[in-house]
Amino acid sequence: MIMCGITGYTGVNQAGPILLEGLKRLEYRGYDSAGIAIQSRNEADDMYSIKMLKATGKVSHLVDKFEAEPDFKGVCGIGHTRWATHGIPSDTNAHPHLSADGKFAVVHNGIIENFAEIRSELQKYGIEFKSETDTEVIVQLLAYNYNGNFKKALMKTISRLTGSYAIGVISAEHPGTIFAAKLSSPLLIGVGIGENYFASDITALVSNTKNVIDMDDGEVAEITPDEVKVYDHAGNEIKKEIRQINWDIAAAEKSGYEHFMMKEIMEQPQALKATIEPRIKDEEIVFGEIKDLDMSKFNRVHITACGSAYHAGCVGRGIIEALCRMPVEAEVASELRYRDPIMDGKTLVIVISQSGETADTIAAMKECKEKGATVLAIVNVVGSSIAKLADYCIYTWAGPEIAVATTKGYTTQVAVLAMFAVWAAGQLKTISHGAYASMVIDIMRLPERAQRALDLNSRVKKLADKYYDNQSLFFIGRNMDYAVALEGSLKLKEISYLHSEAYAAGELKHGTIALIEPGRLVVALCCYEKLFDKTVSNIQQVKARGARVLAVAHEGNRSIFQEADDVLLVPQTDPLLAPVIEIIPMQLFAYYVAEKNGCDIDKPKNLAKSVTVE
Ligand code: G6P
Repeated sequence: MIMCGITGYTGVNQAGPILLEGLKRLEYRGYDSAGIAIQSRNEADDMYSIKMLKATGKVSHLVDKFEAEPDFKGVCGIGHTRWATHGIPSDTNAHPHLSADGKFAVVHNGIIENFAEIRSELQKYGIEFKSETDTEVIVQLLAYNYNGNFKKALMKTISRLTGSYAIGVISAEHPGTIFAAKLSSPLLIGVGIGENYFASDITALVSNTKNVIDMDDGEVAEITPDEVKVYDHAGNEIKKEIRQINWDIAAAEKSGYEHFMMKEIMEQPQALKATIEPRIKDEEIVFGEIKDLDMSKFNRVHITACGSAYHAGCVGRGIIEALCRMPVEAEVASELRYRDPIMDGKTLVIVISQSGETADTIAAMKECKEKGATVLAIVNVVGSSIAKLADYCIYTWAGPEIAVATTKGYTTQVAVLAMFAVWAAGQLKTISHGAYASMVIDIMRLPERAQRALDLNSRVKKLADKYYDNQSLFFIGRNMDYAVALEGSLKLKEISYLHSEAYAAGELKHGTIALIEPGRLVVALCCYEKLFDKTVSNIQQVKARGARVLAVAHEGNRSIFQEADDVLLVPQTDPLLAPVIEIIPMQLFAYYVAEKNGCDIDKPKNLAKSVTVE
């Protein structure tokens, strides 16, 4: 499971309250279910068994269950908050997961890519699986490999796993011992006196200890109350340094950033990776979730959504039309739902929603379904209403987004739309082999290019210092740049409360140019190079009326320096993918302008993250 939280405790105190406290600290990350497991001692025979509690929804539900179970006692245990990726949020899919013999329990962050293969292998030996998760294979395989030696069985188990994991495991036969291991998912060990901890995130540890060991990929920790031993991938003990942390809780929740919005902007390379990588196999785009979607059934596509998701749809329209040569419309859901739109069984409707709960989007999709259209949803929150109502659903896997203004939600939506367009064009044979291959390469490079766009951070901050007191701004662009202008302008207005408008650059002369006066800031998006000269003439028109121009263009574009007052150069990519990269400095610009204006960045006034009313 990506983006979940894990924690564990072994010591002399009751583990239950400590684990629940740790899970509460991890709540800020967003999750949809939680659970804990402990080693429980049976007085009569001095034997141990594993007891487990799980709850869908908030950690407070889990706390209620815990308080209703006075016998849930033990001094060693593990806990988890789950953000569903494989399998809906439910008590069965929530972690921890138990082995069929009840002897082992595991909590896991990450994705086990070869879980299906391991699962069918174990099923052949008669092992029964309870959940839909990839995680359950870890604990079942561990029990299968167990021959009295916990460490050996775990080393053997993890050597079979591909993908990513940070895991914590306990056994009924090894009281007081936790094993924790990691590969490509964060894991820390918290070192105390007579008690030790592990967690995926510093927040779950800081109130208990400031001494931590950073685990590296391939390493395994054996944690007991008095000792932490760390082994390399071959099982040899290695020496690790203990680091002192000086973060308080608030800073830790935001990984040191002042706002969730900045944390989420910075997370974009990682979020894009999570969206893209699992779907590219042998240089081909593979969408398991829509493998039986036959594109030849459709003669047009209609995209609908609200807010930024609609702006992602505007980008998607351009990409799908360009690659599939099929008519595509994009329309806000609040309009579409009341328009009695003309569509039928030959229409593919794509609905886009980060939360999967936006009321207008749900109503519009129901309307389209009634007219016989096939609905494909692009959603971030697994198991949400839109995901369930759609005929097909592709998850963006961006991880929880907390700030009201979406950032990684938007860029991962565009990435999915681009992958979908290439996939569909491949099926329709409207794309050459060469163009397909080059799009796939450019899609795979989006995370790295997004990272390079983030390097503009300090330069954008300086520009925000220069321009933050403009009371009214314009964003202009043509074609794909116009779609980015819409999103750049919305980002700025929603968090800084400045008046801002996006215009198709060619439309300026039909009205807006009357509002251009000396000192007015115009942000010109210039990455769509086919129409660069056209946008340049619009820049010249506004400059002639005294406007100041901030331009965003591709690296290598020299002529833009003669036209604009300030220039931000972003890494070059295919023009159809450029919006993913080009929006990044605009998100940063909105952030720093809002900061300079003293606005509440994560919770802008009058706005909500999920708009479940009309
Ligand atoms: C709200 C949010 C926006 C979001 C829009 C659509 O207005 O503030 O950031 O783009 O809703 O939300 P959805 O969850 O459907 O993407």
